[in-house]
Amino acid sequence: MARGRFITLEGGEGVGKSTQARALGAALSARGIDLVETREPGGSAGAEAIRDLLFMRDWDAGAEALLFAAARGDHVARTIRPALERGRWVLCDRFVDSSRAYQGIASDLGLDRIAALHNVGSAGLLPDLTLLLTAPESAVAARLYARDAGRADRFDARGAAYHARVNSGFLTLAEAEPQRFRVVDALGDSDEVTARLLAAIDAAFA
Ligand code: TYD
Repeated sequence: MARGRFITLEGGEGVGKSTQARALGAALSARGIDLVETREPGGSAGAEAIRDLLFMRDWDAGAEALLFAAARGDHVARTIRPALERGRWVLCDRFVDSSRAYQGIASDLGLDRIAALHNVGSAGLLPDLTLLLTAPESAVAARLYARDAGRADRFDARGAAYHARVNSGFLTLAEAEPQRFRVVDALGDSDEVTARLLAAIDAAFA
């Protein structure tokens, strides 16, 4: 049986990623694709338990990277690999590129350390295709204000300079691996953005 396709969706805060993950999942399923929709941190029982720990307190950067890598290891072993081996497609809201952009670049741990943790935790599994949603900071700030209205979690609350490093980090990662990444404009009508994502998938797998 052919292995399924592994697609990840990435981006900074407030680009509408979770909404797009749902819409894209529905569109792919409507095409008859046998799809597993999942997200990080989380996506398996063990990883969901680690997600609770991650949000419970402020970890230092190294411990936080280890927790993300441990959660991902369980998620890959219990959810992602078994699905791909059965020929199912997997659509994942955030994956190792989030650890690379947030912990590796914005928190300054370095990409080599994140790669080492990913090799230990997940045997270095990489997506077949990574869709990076991007939007100008001014548009994102307005969206976050409307969404969070003072309820920002501890990642959202890290401040504009940190999130600017995350966003430029993601673009650097995309430029370094143009065969795996597609950068997709997150601005505009939600249906239009979904259509752009679908077009990027079709072009990548044509
Ligand atoms: P979540 O509520 O799942 O948010 P989002 O809608 O932004 O995806 O929060 C996850 C937070 O964890 C988010 O701020 C990004 C951060 N994160 C990392 O720092 N490293 C990682 O490896 C992952 C997967 C997420």
